[in-house]
Amino acid sequence: MQAFLSGLVWSALLFLWHSAGNWSCTSKTSVDGPLTTAGGFVHFLGSLRTKRILTIRRNFISYFWSSSDLQKLKAATDHNVDNTTEILREWLKNVQRAYHYVEWRPMDEPESYPDEIGPKHWPSSRFAHVMKLRQAALRTAREKWSDYILFIDVDNFLTNPQTLNLMIAENKTIVAPMLESRGLYSNFWCGITPQANYLQIREWKRIGCFPVPMVHSTFLIDLRKEASDKLTFYPPHQDYTWTFDDIIVFAFSSRQAGIQMYLCNREHYGYLPIPLKPQQTLEEDIENLIHVQIEAMIDGPPMEPSQFVSVVPKYPDKMGFDEIFMINLKRRKDRRDRMLRTLYEQEIEVKIVEAVDGKALNTSQLKALNIEMLPGYRDPYSSRPLTRGEIGCFLSHHSVWKEVIDRELEKTLVIEDDVRFEHQFKKKLMKLMDDIDRAQLDWELIYIGRKRMQVKEPEKAVPNVLNLVEADYSYWTLGYVISLEGAQKLVGANPFGKMLPVDEFLPIMYNKHPVAEYKEHYESRDLKAFSAEPLLIYPTHYTGQPGYLSDTETSTIWDNETVATDWDRTHSWKSRKQGRIHRNAKNTEALPPPTSLDAVPSRDEL
Ligand SMILES: *[C@@H]1O[C@H](CO)[C@@H](O)[C@H](O)[C@H]1NC(C)=O
Ligand SMILES: *[C@@H]1O[C@H](CO)[C@@H](O)[C@H](O)[C@H]1NC(C)=O
Ligand SMILES: *[C@@H]1O[C@H](CO)[C@@H](O)[C@H](O)[C@H]1NC(C)=O
Ligand SMILES: *[C@@H]1O[C@H](CO)[C@@H](O)[C@H](O)[C@H]1NC(C)=O
Repeated sequence: MQAFLSGLVWSALLFLWHSAGNWSCTSKTSVDGPLTTAGGFVHFLGSLRTKRILTIRRNFISYFWSSSDLQKLKAATDHNVDNTTEILREWLKNVQRAYHYVEWRPMDEPESYPDEIGPKHWPSSRFAHVMKLRQAALRTAREKWSDYILFIDVDNFLTNPQTLNLMIAENKTIVAPMLESRGLYSNFWCGITPQANYLQIREWKRIGCFPVPMVHSTFLIDLRKEASDKLTFYPPHQDYTWTFDDIIVFAFSSRQAGIQMYLCNREHYGYLPIPLKPQQTLEEDIENLIHVQIEAMIDGPPMEPSQFVSVVPKYPDKMGFDEIFMINLKRRKDRRDRMLRTLYEQEIEVKIVEAVDGKALNTSQLKALNIEMLPGYRDPYSSRPLTRGEIGCFLSHHSVWKEVIDRELEKTLVIEDDVRFEHQFKKKLMKLMDDIDRAQLDWELIYIGRKRMQVKEPEKAVPNVLNLVEADYSYWTLGYVISLEGAQKLVGANPFGKMLPVDEFLPIMYNKHPVAEYKEHYESRDLKAFSAEPLLIYPTHYTGQPGYLSDTETSTIWDNETVATDWDRTHSWKSRKQGRIHRNAKNTEALPPPTSLDAVPSRDEL
């Protein structure tokens, strides 16, 4: 995997020509296979079932297709420092039978552009190279009388197999499917114009196809529209005076040609990785792509690599922890499967802990365990008492703490099964744990995912450890690191006889719970608790979002299985997204100062 993922970084672009018969206005051809690109076209395009023409030329892949006549494949690659050539060759060997003609032009030298500072740096020579390639692709498409040309950067993932047909159906000269990425990055820009507002579109608050001043990375041009004749990628328009960047040059060219670009968000079409800064490396590019893959898995099936390339095996490990536990309800196989795949992609090895199913708990079992609710406990938002789901959740975490004690595990990571991972999760958490060791910090619990409840004041930064604060009042138990001493304190507090939700129990144990009556029931409250800042995991879904279904909160009252809570999950404030943290309350002291390198703009941020 590694090998071919990194193969994609060299400004590879993918072109698709679509021709529905010469100059015919009715398109009968459609893409019948999944149009899926990812981490290198070879990775996922192996499954593109087109009977058409593929050209791969200097990091570019060009697909031409028409109803029957042209089926030609041309491949070339250049400026590679990795195994792109080998991977391409392997793939080509396997798929060439699908084409009438295959031409293969690898170029091993040079490996880089003369003036670049790293593989993610875009000096002018590289922009010029890309613009010329795009121009050549456009010219070829015109020469072949193609009706359409679809440009796709090779690191874009189109997960919706209907994307091309949907774009064609829009009947625009230039149209792009909105691709999703970390943060709010996407393949278009519009700021706030009278017709369009970037955030409203990006967050699907308005749905449709919108006129925008710039689209890039993946877009379709209808070559039958007369105005498209004036489009050029290279050379830049004579009046063009801004940055030498293919995206902006092309946006200017389309404006000069009187063509309005459109961006559609009617459906989910796919993903693109957030662009890297010039000083970043191929390794970071791979991490970027892995993150896109695992994000895409939250609401869709995993993106499988092409059967036609050998995939580099992964070697999951425990990241330096004595054990990593993942708590999962047996009946939630969907979550288990997603998490296991997501963890595997990140090379993380976990032990699954079967969660206690609160719904299956009956009163006699609760009696046998001597479980009693903490007197006076009420959910802070709904005022309901403890639910069986919450008891199940508590018992699940408790069983992990007991195992930590039994096996004398010094350093254990616990995660629930409905989490999404921060970009470079493994690397960041390992670095944090290293820094904590080096600073010889005395810790017992470290949240890596939580909802911060005290949002008026910043939390106390930990001296000599970046990205760590002393935890104040917090909710959730999505993920935390626990020490042997920490587990001993939690179990030693005998929480069964005075139970409340586990995420409220923890702040009591480190003495930050705001309700004094609850705290009175627990004598020693000296757990040494910290939190990663920024957090390293988040819930996959928040209440109210599509796909949200909580196991702990749609349940029955703790001591009477006939009383279901009337409580509606869409009203669970507790599992809502973290509220806005006041500017003055941000934990900025735990963050590194911005470096001057961060100020160098990356190409796609323009
Ligand atoms: C390229 O492939 C060879 C042989 O399969 C392997 O030993 C090498 O590590 C690969 N290089 C990279 C950069 O992945
Ligand atoms: C496509 O748009 C053009 C105007 O650009 C219009 O004349 C034509 O009828 C449209 N075709 C379809 C099928 O809607
Ligand atoms: C409670 O559940 C246990 C285990 O499933 C079962 O053995 C027991 O009979 C149940 N008791 C009642 C009163 O339903
Ligand atoms: C459970 O609640 C129902 C309805 O409020 C009530 O009739 C019943 O007596 C309760 N059972 C117990 C064991 O408290």
